[in-house]
Amino acid sequence: MHQLSSLKGRSLVEPEDFTLEEMELLFSLAEKIEKEENYLRDSCRGKLLAALFFEPSTRTRLSFEAAMLRLGGSCFGFAEPGSSSASKGESLADTIRMAASYADTIVMRNPKEGAALLATQYSTVPVINAGDGGHHHPTQTLTDLLTIKRLHGNIENITVGFCGDLKFGRTVHSLAKALARYNNIKMIFISPSELVLPEYIKNMFKKQNIEFTERENLEKSMPEIDVLYMTRVQRERFFNEDDYIRLKDTYVLNTEKMAAGKEKLIVLHPLPRVNEISIEIDADPRAAYFAQAKYGMYVRMALLASILGVLC
Ligand code: NCD
Repeated sequence: MHQLSSLKGRSLVEPEDFTLEEMELLFSLAEKIEKEENYLRDSCRGKLLAALFFEPSTRTRLSFEAAMLRLGGSCFGFAEPGSSSASKGESLADTIRMAASYADTIVMRNPKEGAALLATQYSTVPVINAGDGGHHHPTQTLTDLLTIKRLHGNIENITVGFCGDLKFGRTVHSLAKALARYNNIKMIFISPSELVLPEYIKNMFKKQNIEFTERENLEKSMPEIDVLYMTRVQRERFFNEDDYIRLKDTYVLNTEKMAAGKEKLIVLHPLPRVNEISIEIDADPRAAYFAQAKYGMYVRMALLASILGVLC
């Protein structure tokens, strides 16, 4: 029996749904897939993935579809709710019941916090949360952790700086909570006061004695940081456009700021980037966000093969 057979039939709503050991095994499998072109090719032949995207997406949807197609499976679904019966008022529960009767797994992105958890209650097949509002985005976290592991060697003894919209950024919430489970991780949360990390996460860290600080200045923090996680200000979650316009360009990572960074710094960004990393940084060897997007496809291949049970 394969070590990852424990994931067969399981849903993924937030990163804590998997043990650290299961995540490690997924990373090893993703690495094997990356290195051996034909490994697991066609292992999912005959399996169907329903991709239900109630919110825009480029990388997450395309990398899931590419992952499934590379495994020999097939995908169907919708890329925006306007083309589904959600626009006629159908409930999420009913949409999920239908999709579960057609597909072997459901990948869903939804603007409502808690939508993925709700979907698991109505689905007879595993549900993978591809982002639920400002809450969680566990497969981005698998992507981020795999990238850190591959580029840094391991996920411990590092200082991780999170910068930008820490209030609404679901990728930040999921990654910070996941990193808190590893050894000797220091976290620096850099944001304007209006966009600080939600209280519930900070309280959780305080209870667990996780080391973290909150700051407003990126430049001064640069020399301490090993992994810098830049994020976009989440326009779609603002109540007021004026606030968005005032805050959107608070941080722009440029050559001057990078000059203060460590030689082995790794710059990550879940993407899409708007203005928070100048394009001149793309050529800096420390910029890892495009490599990160590629690791996302390999880890999603590992995840799909595991939950669909084709490894056993
Ligand atoms: C992120 C998301 O959707 O939360 N994108 C992604 O999945 N890579 C980040 C963002 O939209 O800012």
